[in-house]
Order: sequence, then C-alpha cells, then structure tokens
Amino acid sequence: MEILASHFDEICLVDLDTAALQQCVDGLSATAASRTTLRAGVDLSCILSQLDLLHAEPSVPQQTMDALVSMARDLPSQIDLGQWDVVVSTCLLSQLVDSVFIAVGAGHPRSADLVVAIRDGHLAQLAALAGDCGKILLITDFVSSDTLPELRHVSADQLQSLVHQAVANRNFFTGLNPAVLLHRLQKDSVLVKPYPAWRWNLGPRCFAVCALETVSGLTLRDKK
Ligand SMILES: C[S@@+](CC[C@H](N)C(=O)[O-])C[C@H]1O[C@@H](n2cnc3c(N)ncnc32)[C@H](O)[C@@H]1O
Repeated sequence: MEILASHFDEICLVDLDTAALQQCVDGLSATAASRTTLRAGVDLSCILSQLDLLHAEPSVPQQTMDALVSMARDLPSQIDLGQWDVVVSTCLLSQLVDSVFIAVGAGHPRSADLVVAIRDGHLAQLAALAGDCGKILLITDFVSSDTLPELRHVSADQLQSLVHQAVANRNFFTGLNPAVLLHRLQKDSVLVKPYPAWRWNLGPRCFAVCALETVSGLTLRDKK
C-alpha cells in the first residue's frame, strides 16, 4: 500500500470483508492513509444475498436462476464505484464463481450459466470503472492442486507448459479459462497483455494465478 500510495493520489479498496480492508490500512503512514479510501461491505457480485437465501432450497427453480443470471450480467448498473485510471481485480473472480457453486451446487443445470453471467458482469464492471482511458489489471487463480496435483512440485521452468497443458485439457475453474478471459477483455477492441502464470500456495492447496493487463492507447484497429 505504501508503494501504491507513492504512485497514486487516490486509492480505493473495495471488498465485502470490512475487517480485511481495515487490516490493509492499519499502520499506514499518514500520507498513504490520507490517499486511501475504503468501500467495505460491497458485494461485487450483487447477488450474494439472493444466493444466501438459496441454501435452504433443495432445487432452485428455473425462474429464480433466470432472474439471477440477468441481475449478475447487469452488474455495472447496480454498483457505482466511479471511474479510475487503474482498476485491479485480485483473486476475487474465483470467489465470486465459488459462491454460485456453494449456493446452487455444481450439479444444477444452470450453474455454469450463472457463473458465466457473474464473470461477464465483473468484466463489464471493470470496463465501466476504467472508462475509455483507464487500465484494467485482472489477476485470478484459475486451477488448483486439487485437479492439477503436479502444480505443487513442478519446476519453475516447467510451470508454464504445465498450466498451458491443463487449460488445453479443460482443467480450470468453471468460467475462468485464461484464454477466454483475455478474449473477453479484448472484446471492445482493447489489446490485452498476458503475464506468465505463477503459483500461490495457500495452506494445503496450491493455485495457478494468471494476470491480464489492458494496454492503454492501443486498439486492435490501430494495429491493423
Ligand atoms: C483471496 S481474497 C483476495 C483479497 C484481495 N483482493 C487481495 O488480493 O489481497 C478474496 C477476497 O474476495 C472477497 N470477496 C468474496 N466474495 C465477494 C463479493 N461477493 N464481493 C466483494 N468481495 C468479495 C473476500 O472478502 C476476500 O477478501
């Protein structure tokens, strides 16, 4: 945070978890603290309270799923967080996806539709926050050692080929194929730079994480 505050006049942190955000600012220098604002308790899927209600339902009706899908897709119009020069989404998207499976179960025939709607709503929100001139940095875990046990032990120079092979074998979290995310971010003729994947060790699980950065000022049309 100190480093970020030395580069930016204003930083806004957004998360559902108030205590986690407070931890980020505890102990900051006066300058960094004065540049940081917190938007705590914000549900960045906008359907979490509805999902919570579904836990008690043995099977979620089609109509309810249809309503949730259209709410999730329409995310940018439901949460206004302003416009920013740089918008960063870090290891959040997989949590939004997980909330669907926890609520309706992976076996529900519309669960994948709802995941895709949440993903696309999130990407649309990042685009709205960045506006025409801002940069987006999307960082997300996309596969774990649960389905790719080699992730834990593969050597650093084999990591890229391991995760590329996993993606080619469709071994990734539902809705989080990095190639599809890149394509979606490029949708509005913005170029996207992918970074090499890295490992994130979290307790008993290890995750592969990818980062995608929109390149400002260049469009696919400019390149032709
Ligand atoms: C793996 S942590 C990443 C935290 C932080 N972005 C970072 O990179 O250090 C995932 C975060 O997603 C937040 N989260 C999960 N579901 C959310 C939702 N529906 N809306 C907003 N935040 C959510 C959790 O509270 C948690 O802080």
